[in-house]
Amino acid sequence: MTDRIVLRRPDDWHAHLRDGDMLATVAPFTARQFARAIVMPNLVPPVTTAEAAHAYAARIRKAAGPGFEPLMTCYLTDASDPDAIERGYKEGAWVAAKLYPAHATTNSAHGVTDVGKIAPVLERMQRIGMKFLVHGEVTDKHVDIFDREAAFIDRTLARLVRDFPGLKIVFEHITTKEAADFVAAAPANVAATITPHHLMIDRNAIFEGGIRPHLYCLPIAKRSHHRTALRKAAVSGSPKFFLGTDTAPHAVHAKEAACGCAGIFNAPVALEAYARVFDEENALEKLEGFASLFGPAFYGLPPNEARIALVRANATAPERVPGPAGDIVTYLGGQALGWRIEAA
Ligand code: NCD
Ligand code: ZN
Repeated sequence: MTDRIVLRRPDDWHAHLRDGDMLATVAPFTARQFARAIVMPNLVPPVTTAEAAHAYAARIRKAAGPGFEPLMTCYLTDASDPDAIERGYKEGAWVAAKLYPAHATTNSAHGVTDVGKIAPVLERMQRIGMKFLVHGEVTDKHVDIFDREAAFIDRTLARLVRDFPGLKIVFEHITTKEAADFVAAAPANVAATITPHHLMIDRNAIFEGGIRPHLYCLPIAKRSHHRTALRKAAVSGSPKFFLGTDTAPHAVHAKEAACGCAGIFNAPVALEAYARVFDEENALEKLEGFASLFGPAFYGLPPNEARIALVRANATAPERVPGPAGDIVTYLGGQALGWRIEAA
């Protein structure tokens, strides 16, 4: 049994770091394990301009401390301008742009109402090599919430992949076998991130003994066979699948409410949780590719030189983290993690 593995320092290719006092609370949890993170732009108001992205990056650097590099993203709207997006990319304001279908998830009200409207933006991004990050769910209320990701592939994503054959696309936080199969069969310009929670829970967990608001996120966890497919994809060694936690903190009152927010705060336990999954799959030797190599390769960035160690240990996840508007409940809070991060 392997009790200690050393990996290149990983990166998080999908994180919500929020802003203000919440940012100050949560950023150190991401920075303790990851050297870089793709930072989601769904603030209020969303990050749509290069100026806003530069300013937000500076606030993140301050909150996270030295040695952490935020990789910024631009929030796409119906009004996004190809020239402004390209300018922001060339001057280093952002490395990618994020598609939120309007009203698909938290803070997506300003998102895109019809992908046809951003075709000129996607053409430009394809030309300049800027990455296109996709929240892949239809927003049609007639589609069952558990089917919205699969429907998005059929209605939108398959066509985008066909129409923009050179566009580098990341299908974010995939939750279904359909998504894993689609990405595996797609050309090399299409990849996906997978969260720790979608590798661990299925939809039963959300209703175990009562409603569990802290396991509610979007896309919502699906049936057990989907989790099996995601695990298989994550440990497959395919460079198309890499780490993206989708850590999405909300104060406890916003989660434990009549209409609770979607989002799971996993930054305090993310890498340990991935290690547990890879260990359960007898695939610890595949963890470095997933966590530290395939993401940088897709984004055209060098992997990190620093190393960290994961050590088998009797570590327990913190239940809660005190935040500016009340506690933030941690994913796996109070449970045995099985692994601890150490300096290599
Ligand atoms: C995210 C958030 O809270 O910002 N919530 C979530 O459930 N994942 C938004 C998102 O990524 O969908
Ligand atoms: Zn997200």
